[in-house]
Amino acid sequence: MCGIVGYIGNKKAVPVLINGLRSLEYRGYDSAGIAVLEDNEIIAIKDKGRVANLENIEDIKNLNSSIGIAHTRWATHGKPSKENSHPHLDNSKQFAVVHNGIIENYHELREFLSQKGYTFLSQTDTEVIPNLIHYYYTNGIRDTDQFLRAVKSAVDDLKGSYAIEVMSKNYPDRIIVVRKDSPLVIGKGNDENFVASDIPAILCHTKDFYLLEDNEYAVVYANDIHFFDNSLEEHSKSIKSIEWDATAAEKNGYEDYMLKEIYEQPNAIRETIGSRFKLGEKCNFDDIDISKEYLSQVNKIWIVACGTAMHAGLVGKNAIEKLCKISTEVDIASEFRYRDPIINDKTLCIFISQSGETADTIAALKLAKSKNAKTIAVTNVIGSSITREADYTIYTHAGPEIAVASTKAYTSQVVLMVILAMYFAEILGICDENCVEQLKSDILDLPNKIETVLESADDIKKFAEKVYTEHDMYFLGRGNDYCVALEGSLKLKEISYIHSESYASGELKHGPIALIENGVTVISILTNPDLVEKSISNIQEVVSRGAKTLVITNQKLSNVNFDFIMNIPDTNSLISPILSVIPLQLFSYYIAKNKKLDVDKPRNLAKSVTVE
Ligand code: G6P
Repeated sequence: MCGIVGYIGNKKAVPVLINGLRSLEYRGYDSAGIAVLEDNEIIAIKDKGRVANLENIEDIKNLNSSIGIAHTRWATHGKPSKENSHPHLDNSKQFAVVHNGIIENYHELREFLSQKGYTFLSQTDTEVIPNLIHYYYTNGIRDTDQFLRAVKSAVDDLKGSYAIEVMSKNYPDRIIVVRKDSPLVIGKGNDENFVASDIPAILCHTKDFYLLEDNEYAVVYANDIHFFDNSLEEHSKSIKSIEWDATAAEKNGYEDYMLKEIYEQPNAIRETIGSRFKLGEKCNFDDIDISKEYLSQVNKIWIVACGTAMHAGLVGKNAIEKLCKISTEVDIASEFRYRDPIINDKTLCIFISQSGETADTIAALKLAKSKNAKTIAVTNVIGSSITREADYTIYTHAGPEIAVASTKAYTSQVVLMVILAMYFAEILGICDENCVEQLKSDILDLPNKIETVLESADDIKKFAEKVYTEHDMYFLGRGNDYCVALEGSLKLKEISYIHSESYASGELKHGPIALIENGVTVISILTNPDLVEKSISNIQEVVSRGAKTLVITNQKLSNVNFDFIMNIPDTNSLISPILSVIPLQLFSYYIAKNKKLDVDKPRNLAKSVTVE
C-alpha cells in the first residue's frame, strides 16, 4: 500500500527519495511522485505507473534541492492518475503533502474548504490536507510556530488514519510529520535526516530510528529533530537501533525477493528460535510475563490474523490445544472485529501480523483490549503499530520480508507459535516433559531439514513446468496438512493467478470431488502417520477420476500410482508444516516464473494492508 519517504540534509534529495521509493515498491502501488524545494518554489513531479517512469522524466534530473518528500500511492479515493498522485499542493502552492491512510470525513472538509473558496484538482481525500493547512496558516497568529500550529489545527480536523509529511516553501529548513494508525519512522543521519513509512526505505542510510507514536509531531531539520505531543508540548525521545542489515533488504544475487526469502528460511528459523529455549531447559520469553495463576484461569484463546498469518495461526491452534489443552479458536481479523466475539478477562488473544500494520488485525486487537482480554502481538517488524497496542509483543526476527507473498514470515510465525505453546504448557505444568523435550530437539533440527527440502527445488520446478498452463488446482490435507493446503493454495492464487481451492481431505466427497475430471491437478500433503491410510484413500479417489497428483510426504509410500511424489524429511506433526510448505512455496514460484509474471509484486496485492 502507500509508501512515504522524506529527506532533508546536505545531499541532493532526488536520488535519496527515488531510492527510498524503489525500496517501498514491494508494498504495492499504482502511482509515484516527489516534491522538492527548488529556488524557493515547490516542484512536484508525479504520475501514475512505476517509480522507474519518474526517474526517466528529464526535469527530475536537473533538481538540486536537498529537501524533499515522496510517495507511492495505492489508489483508494480516485483512480490512478497524475492528478490523484501525491504530493498534493494547496491552491497557493505554499504547502506540499504526502499522506498514507484514509481521511474518513474528507467530504465534509472539502465542502468546508470549497465554501472558503478553495478548489480541488483531484478526487483524493488527501488534497484537503494542504488546503486546510493553508487555511489555518493564513488565519492563525503569525509567529515562529505558525507552520507547526497550522499543521496541528488541520490534523485536529481529520478523522481516520494517517501518516502525513508536510513541506512548505516558507520554511525550507524543515519537514513536519505526524501519524495516527499508520506507520512513520524518522531515520537519524549525520547532518541529514530521513522520513519513511517503512524502515527498509532508508535502511541503507542509517540504522538509528525514532518510531513516531500516534498523535506525535516531529519537526525534522537537517541537524536536529524536535518532537511534540498532541498539545504541542515539546518532549525528548529515545532512539532505537535496528539490527537489520541493509543488505538483508536487497536481492543479493537472487532473481526475486521471494526466492531469496524462501532460501533464507533456515536462518530465519534459527533467529526465531534464538535463545527462547535450549535442550534440557524450559522455554523463556523475556518479552512476556504470564503467570501460572493467570494461564490456569484462561478458558479460551483466540488467534486472530489475516492471510498467511492466519494460516500460521491455524497451526498454532493445533499446538496450543495439543500441548496446553486450552480451547483455541482462529479467526480472520476482518470477521472477528464485526462479529461481537465472546471475550472477557479470561480470554487470551494472540494477533499475528508480519508487518504489524494490517488495519483489520489492529482493529481486532483494540476490540479485544476494550473487552479486557490480555493481548499478545506476534510480529516481524520492530516498533510496528501493533506493538504499541498489544500488552506484549513477541518478535519473529525473520528479517525484512519484501516479496508480497509471505514465505519466511509464515514459517517463523509457525515456529514461534509452537514455542509459545510449549512455553504455556511448561508454565501450566501439564505437559509430558519427554514429549516436549523431543519437540524441542525436532525444532532445533528444522533449519538443516529445510536445507534438505530446498535441495530438491529442481524436482518441484520440473513438476511446475508440466502444469503451469492449468486453470484450476486443488490442495488436500488433513490436520496440520490441511493448514498447509490452505497456505499452498493461497500462495498459488497470489502469484500465479491460477484458480485454486483447498479442502480438508475428508470433505472431498461432500462436493469438491464433482470437480475432479481427467487431467485436473491435485496436490496433497501427507505427513501425519496417524492419518496416512485415510489420506491415501482420498488421493486414490481423485486418481481414479483422472487427476494428476503431486504428493508431498514424509511417509514411505508403496504401491501407489501418484504422478509425482516429493519426499521431505520426517519431523513431529506439530511442526511438519514448516517443511511441507516449502515445496508449495517453490511450486507457486516456478509456476509464476513459467508464466513470466512479476513474482514479487503480484497484481492488485499489497504487502501490508493498512486500510480496511
Ligand atoms: C497481505 C499480504 C499477505 C499477508 C497479509 C497479512 O494480504 O499480501 O502476504 O499474509 O496481508 O499481513 P500481515 O502483515 O498482517 O501478516
